[in-house]
Amino acid sequence: MRIPDDVRARLASQTSQLWGEPGVIDLGIGQPQDALLPVEEFRRAMASAAVPRFQLQYGIERGDGLLRMALADALTPRYGVPVDAERMIISNGNSQAIDWCCATLAHPGDVVLVEDPTYFLARAIFADHGLRVIGLPTDDQGLLPDALEQALITHRPAFVYTIPTFANPTGTTTSADRRAAIVELIARHGSLLVADEVYHLLSYGAAPPPPYCAWLDSGVVVCLGTFSKILAPGLRLGWVQAAEPTLARLVGHGTLVSGGGLNPFAAPIVTAMLQDGTALAYLDRLRSIYAARVGVMDDALRDAFGPERAGGEVTWRTPEGGYFFWLQLPAGMDAAAIRPHAVARGAAFQPGATFSPDGGFGHCLRLSFAYYGEEDLARGVRIIAETVTEAITAAATGG
Ligand SMILES: Cc1ncc(COP(=O)(O)O)c(C=O)c1O
Repeated sequence: MRIPDDVRARLASQTSQLWGEPGVIDLGIGQPQDALLPVEEFRRAMASAAVPRFQLQYGIERGDGLLRMALADALTPRYGVPVDAERMIISNGNSQAIDWCCATLAHPGDVVLVEDPTYFLARAIFADHGLRVIGLPTDDQGLLPDALEQALITHRPAFVYTIPTFANPTGTTTSADRRAAIVELIARHGSLLVADEVYHLLSYGAAPPPPYCAWLDSGVVVCLGTFSKILAPGLRLGWVQAAEPTLARLVGHGTLVSGGGLNPFAAPIVTAMLQDGTALAYLDRLRSIYAARVGVMDDALRDAFGPERAGGEVTWRTPEGGYFFWLQLPAGMDAAAIRPHAVARGAAFQPGATFSPDGGFGHCLRLSFAYYGEEDLARGVRIIAETVTEAITAAATGG
């Protein structure tokens, strides 16, 4: 069913889950393209999955056991570390899991340390719980251990929130050595690490280092995974890995005590898709589609900015996974001010300052390659590059 443009525009104005404005290629949208959603795969799985009576009952607090076992089997080879179904609970996806962490691992007024820049909508969840968000500097491997240690001493945070692999918005991945150093610091200073591994399975080159669940034995790691980017966001289904007693603190959340485990009805469908290989085959199809889009976008950026500007005034790293290109314009440029001019020409992006707790990174912008096909991506990039180039020229000539 095609949603009429006026209805779409009205819905878009009511949601942070950005839907494209009609006539605008909005490369700010960080969600999967409708046309790529696995409708047929779900039809088949729903027709064949048995829905036992207990799946229509309240579920056990930790979430469906068969789903957790199927997930452990599917994730172990992909993560490259053993995944234990006993140290996992089922969530409604990472947004809900972040909310859980705030509710059970922190108190209002506590500090949460984050990478600066970070996932802007997580900041809204921290604000819901009255948490104070402090951004930390990063390099091309994410959090800097020295700065992290200083902040752990100064702020005594309830937890540190990190997006360690193919980060939103920068695409950065933290190396295995850096991860080990970060876990050691967090343990030494008595805090917790909440690792949002939303993009871990979406790699387009060499496999990334193991996710933070490799350090579960430390007792200080909470590792969040989700089906949103690898199967369908509408499922509202994910998983949380932690060691006891942190897992028990999460499971003690009032909504689980009252309402039981999450999403028992979806569990047999997704379990079937994991067990028969459908889910991983779909993931691999997505990876090859996104890998091709990265190539198209990279070429389009290079062509549109031209040999002098690309890699000089305008820089980016070609993503090796995830959803995003992160472009840096010359210092002092204001991407938010450039955006309306790009929109008027038919393309949009997310300005960098959106992602910074301190409003920094105004000269950066985030482009996603998930929501549009190759042709639209190339067209959107051309429009954005044209608009940015004019703004750079105007700034240089005082115009
Ligand atoms: C870093 C990060 N965390 C969480 C989410 C949302 O995850 P979920 O759909 O599982 O709630 C996103 C989606 O864009 C994201 O980029």
